[in-house]
Amino acid sequence: MQIRMVATTPFTDQKPGTSGLRKRVQAFRQPHYLENFVQSIFDTIAAPKGSVLVLGGDGRHYNREAIQIILKMAAANGFGQVLVGKGGILSTPAASCVIRKYRTYGGIILSASHNPGGPDGDFGIKYNTANGGPAPEKITEAIYAASMRIVQYRIADAPDVALDALGDSRLGDMTVSVIDPVDDYAELMESLFDFAAIRALLSGGFRIRFDAMHAVTGPYAREIFVNRLGAPADSVINAEPLEDFGGGHPDPNLTYAHELVEALYGDDAPDFGAASDGDGDRNMILGRHFFVTPSDSLAILAANAHRVPGYKQGLAGIARSMPTSAAVDRVAAALNIPCYETPTGWKFFGNLMDAGKVTLCGEESFGTGSNHIREKDGLWAVLFWLNILAVRRQPVEAMTRRCEASGAGMASSHPLPQTAGFASNVSRDVEAIVREHWARFGRNVYSRHDYEGIPADAANGVMKRLHDRFAELQACPEQGRGGAQFGHLQVRRCDDFSYTDPVDGSVSQGQGIRILFVDGSRIVFRLSGTGTEGATLRIYLESFEPDVSKHHLDAQEALATLISIALEISELRQRTGRERPTVIT
Ligand code: G1P
Ligand code: ZN
Repeated sequence: MQIRMVATTPFTDQKPGTSGLRKRVQAFRQPHYLENFVQSIFDTIAAPKGSVLVLGGDGRHYNREAIQIILKMAAANGFGQVLVGKGGILSTPAASCVIRKYRTYGGIILSASHNPGGPDGDFGIKYNTANGGPAPEKITEAIYAASMRIVQYRIADAPDVALDALGDSRLGDMTVSVIDPVDDYAELMESLFDFAAIRALLSGGFRIRFDAMHAVTGPYAREIFVNRLGAPADSVINAEPLEDFGGGHPDPNLTYAHELVEALYGDDAPDFGAASDGDGDRNMILGRHFFVTPSDSLAILAANAHRVPGYKQGLAGIARSMPTSAAVDRVAAALNIPCYETPTGWKFFGNLMDAGKVTLCGEESFGTGSNHIREKDGLWAVLFWLNILAVRRQPVEAMTRRCEASGAGMASSHPLPQTAGFASNVSRDVEAIVREHWARFGRNVYSRHDYEGIPADAANGVMKRLHDRFAELQACPEQGRGGAQFGHLQVRRCDDFSYTDPVDGSVSQGQGIRILFVDGSRIVFRLSGTGTEGATLRIYLESFEPDVSKHHLDAQEALATLISIALEISELRQRTGRERPTVIT
């Protein structure tokens, strides 16, 4: 095998964002663009000769071509073996699972997550370390630095590798092992959840619908829900992965997963609905006519973890990203375990999990996960919910049988018997579980407003304006002045969130502007780090409602005052010309 050294010059825009390097497909297609970045990864990680690498992606446009290039570069850079998903497919959580299971040196994941795909869509690449998680900032910064001084890359002159049949082949001195992308992952799921209980739930008339959004989770969902758990085949929709996601936007939220949302809010709605994103790490959970916010979902998983085999032994701690609602903090307090607040992005959870400090973690952006891998995990969250629903249903059925046996009868619409202990808080549907949770812990009313594709100057102007107003907004005890007053809400403090990693002491600054109010409400402003066009400004809004009689309120209604304060102090409308958000979640 001939190894070519190709002379190149740096591109100046290869700085990884929240989750790796994301650009338009056309950008990646420029001569040397992908190669430069991959060589910068290899130069930075300096893997010993013969190391093993995992490689796969979400199947979007350019996935296969990129895999061929990376395989040839891995061979030229001295790797001994690459485990690549059949057809070039590996969901992000499955890649993390495979890196950990086979103790590889690391892995490269090709995905732009929830961004649209196709020739005019986005592509992305990120490096994950041996723990299975996204490379920490120290490494991504070093990759960027390497990309700024690169002068050449190494690539093997070899024919393309066949990716569609399982088994090993050689690429020079390197072995390419094409693996089943689903098997290892499905096995891990079986080890964590009570599949027998979920099977019983699904065979007992409980109807689910999972929307794979023509993205990577289709084959995973079919294998797990249909083959292993016995759900009817039509429970999984849009299950065929397509290079352009069927023209859709593979982001599981109320706006983009509208087909699923319409079904769950329709007349003959299934009991449970869920969706995942382009690369399978996000999840959206729906009940019949009911949406579970990701922040609530994290809190509910934490509060019910003891019902699930993989987590019966208890949780070491919980972590959430700063903009995620504090609902889970209340559960952590009740469980008497620590709760960590990290910057946005999954890479900050890795250290905490590696150090054994946290078991569950999550973000408001439809990301939930645990220490079973080092990525967020969409199908895992769905299975966690199904396991909780299955376990909570069991005593009801047992009771029904007892009632029937004694001739008492019990119609399904009959109110649940309020007996002591476990059975008293049994509920069979998603909405009831959420409402019970709010009744017990109070409700953290939450919403995120995204303004997508605004000019970078305008977005930066909004952030700067907010910064400049800190002194005027917050209390100044020296001057005997309280914080600015907006109706019944008074500002307590403003800051730009900064995080010191409790494990390695590294500091991450500028992670989002927080306007914190005396009553615990807050507004957070952040610029997205995953977009590829213009800027996306995110506004996160949160207040706390302990009063059960107000828990039925729509979040937008309950947060109306905070929303208008956010618009006023940021001058967002004047500065961007936008009248309303692009997406509300
Ligand atoms: C977004 C989400 C963030 C998530 C990331 C990757 O990043 O907000 O929580 O970790 O995607 O899925 P952002 O675009 O806000 O930087
Ligand atoms: Zn994703």
